[in-house]
Amino acid sequence: MIKNVAIIGAGAMGSGIAQVAAQNGCKVKIYDTYKQALTKSQANLAKTLEKLVNKGKFTNEQAQSITNNIRYIDDIHNINDADLVIEAIIENLDIKKKAFQEIEKIVRSECILASNTSSLSITSLAAACSQPERVIGIHFFNPAPIMKLVEIIPAVQTDKGIVELSKSTIDTWGKETVLAKDTPAFIVNRVARPFYSEAIRIYEEGIASPAMIDWAMTEIGGFRMGPFTLMDFIGHDVNFAVTESVFKAYYYDDRYKPSFTQKRLVEAGYLGRKSGKGFYDYGEDSSEQEFNKDKKQGEKIVERIVVMLINEAADALFWNIATKEDIDTAMTKGVNYPKGLLKWADEWGMDVCESILDDLFDEYRETRYRCSPLIRKMQRKGLTFYPKRK
Ligand SMILES: NC(=O)c1ccc[n+]([C@@H]2O[C@H](COP(=O)([O-])OP(=O)(O)OC[C@H]3O[C@@H](n4cnc5c(N)ncnc54)[C@H](O)[C@@H]3O)[C@@H](O)[C@H]2O)c1
Repeated sequence: MIKNVAIIGAGAMGSGIAQVAAQNGCKVKIYDTYKQALTKSQANLAKTLEKLVNKGKFTNEQAQSITNNIRYIDDIHNINDADLVIEAIIENLDIKKKAFQEIEKIVRSECILASNTSSLSITSLAAACSQPERVIGIHFFNPAPIMKLVEIIPAVQTDKGIVELSKSTIDTWGKETVLAKDTPAFIVNRVARPFYSEAIRIYEEGIASPAMIDWAMTEIGGFRMGPFTLMDFIGHDVNFAVTESVFKAYYYDDRYKPSFTQKRLVEAGYLGRKSGKGFYDYGEDSSEQEFNKDKKQGEKIVERIVVMLINEAADALFWNIATKEDIDTAMTKGVNYPKGLLKWADEWGMDVCESILDDLFDEYRETRYRCSPLIRKMQRKGLTFYPKRK
């Protein structure tokens, strides 16, 4: 039973995870090397709880008990009673390895050591520890108190019991957990790449403007946000860095190739909303971009982006990165896609998916458009991912 939780890193993710654990009755200690981060985290939580009380989501007593459950500590030795440590510090493998080695010396030998990393190898982190079998990835999404999904990533060395305990603990915190193999970007951040990259390709080729592609993806595709609005929201520095790191981690697979358009935006400092300009202008006297709303062209845009997402999801299944149910849950709960991609593939039919991908491949002769072997095999055998409804 996990009762005492220690969070290392009081930034955006650490603070959110601390709130989730405290809301679920755990005693939480949150540590940061930077004292101001602790003060900021504490002040932000107070503001969040006040808002939630005003909205009627929590009673005063519940808010008080969450506050009482969290201690902000500036001496890492205070985490010595932890049953579970979740690290949410800077995304740097060497710094994380050092932090894990320091934590290991302080906590009891039964304590689980988890990392919230979005992209680094859990196996490599575990290898830096003297008890690698207790190291695991527990990957929350931003904002942690709101996003339902948590990816659980066992390292090659992780003990089965640690996987089960981690998963059941996070489940009792009201989250939906999915199991992912320790591969670069796990499920969500890998499968979602074409949402951005294929949209940028369509724009770079001059087929449609960002505004038209966003319109097509939301109005026709049913996505909550269009790819360009979303990239502007995430920040091009962050989005480009993830794309570049996934591309390198997959040994420069063409499928994950970053775009020059986004690189130039980063170089120009046009980072999106936070800098006032990205694909869109957020200045006071900016006006909405005009674009055509041709339904047929819109459908073609959706078809091309969605088929690339389906292909990525099918390949994740083909390579046993996760189960089909977990892949679909990951994309609907982690990035709010309107439906699971494999379910979507069933609705379109494997023959349709294969033929759209083959047409793209024939046109461009680039390996990024290669159809997943799983889609081909299923097409040949007349199979669907889920049982057909009678
Ligand atoms: N921001 C996201 O959308 C998101 C989503 C999922 C996962 N993640 C991952 O979560 C982790 C944290 O991301 P974030 O966005 O919260 O970062 P952040 O920059 O908001 O916070 C990181 C905090 O860690 C502290 N820190 C740095 N080195 C430390 C150390 N050695 N010991 C203790 N504290 C240290 C910093 O002072 C800072 O307060 C990263 O691994 C990131 O990849 C981020």
